[in-house]
Amino acid sequence: MEKFNINNRRYIGNKSKLLDWIFEKIKKYTKGNSFLDIFSGTGSVSKEALNYYDEIIINDFLFSNNVIYKAFFGKEDYDKQKLRKIALDINNKKFEDLKENYFDKNFGNKYFGKRDARKIGFIRDEIEKKKKENEINEREYNILLSSLVYSIDKIANTVGHYEAYIKKSVRDNILVFNLIKPLETKGKKITIFREEANKLGEKIKADIVFLDPPYNSRQYSRFYHLIENLIEWEKPELFGVALKPKEKNMSDYCRNTAPKVFDNLVKKLNCKYIVVTYNNTYNSKSSSSKNKISFEEILKSLNEVGKTKIFEKEYKFFNAGKTDFKAHKEFLFITEVK
Ligand SMILES: C[S@@+](CC[C@H](N)C(=O)[O-])C[C@H]1O[C@@H](n2cnc3c(N)ncnc32)[C@H](O)[C@@H]1O
Repeated sequence: MEKFNINNRRYIGNKSKLLDWIFEKIKKYTKGNSFLDIFSGTGSVSKEALNYYDEIIINDFLFSNNVIYKAFFGKEDYDKQKLRKIALDINNKKFEDLKENYFDKNFGNKYFGKRDARKIGFIRDEIEKKKKENEINEREYNILLSSLVYSIDKIANTVGHYEAYIKKSVRDNILVFNLIKPLETKGKKITIFREEANKLGEKIKADIVFLDPPYNSRQYSRFYHLIENLIEWEKPELFGVALKPKEKNMSDYCRNTAPKVFDNLVKKLNCKYIVVTYNNTYNSKSSSSKNKISFEEILKSLNEVGKTKIFEKEYKFFNAGKTDFKAHKEFLFITEVK
């Protein structure tokens, strides 16, 4: 029943396929005991860092990512049998017994089939109810919420994010609620934040700081609005064809101010090494995927705080929705801070 590992998620820019390369370089060219992953996304880099460091600090400003970190990396005990029983009861629920709710009213026959959408809204309400009635502790609450995110990810009628749904008949009745597999973190010091990266950067000290910010105008809070909505569960009014709520958690890294914001962050960090990933999508034809910071701007900021080594790797990926293979280069900067 515990089916999902932390990287079993469709998430733009996740580094799960590059982890061996990234950590081979980090291990060779840095030293230290604490690792700060300040734009943590799926958390896959932090998970890998568990193999090498005693202290891991994880941060991202999205609500859903924060819940996922607390679920996978949390320290509070949880009752596996209890969670299995809850999952079993949920999967045995019949559509006919469920009332229409916020989720299927808005997203049914769009991002999910009508029946699956009703079930998702029902599960979300159930998890909240169990928490209110003290049937589950905080960790169990976060595990159930994360399990819901991972369970719906694979069946969403999208190319992997929620900028739009696919406009053809939607498959329905395919949702199975499975649980995530939390990580073993015994003996490790784990701290989790949901903060603006530049604010956190000035108050935290770590040996190695890993920077993987967004590099184009695509805002993560807009791409994953449906997941944020499901986790926050404030049932806001929605707008437009994509059914997005009002803007929240908009990143300066996706705006023209990005080079300045990046430079400020790099200068504020209190660490021995800064590790930055970067790729060359700035050659892309679509304006939304053009990079907001250039390779030279990154290098200039890093060189002002220390000595920088640059590594590159050819990386093949599928263009979302299309079948053509594109090769792009992934860069890794490692700066030894003066
Ligand atoms: C490229 S992704 C990171 C991917 C991650 N390394 C992984 O392997 O999954 C960038 C992340 O930064 C977060 N983010 C963007 N701007 C932020 C900010 N100003 N403060 C904190 N997090 C931010 C986004 O929510 C997104 O998850």
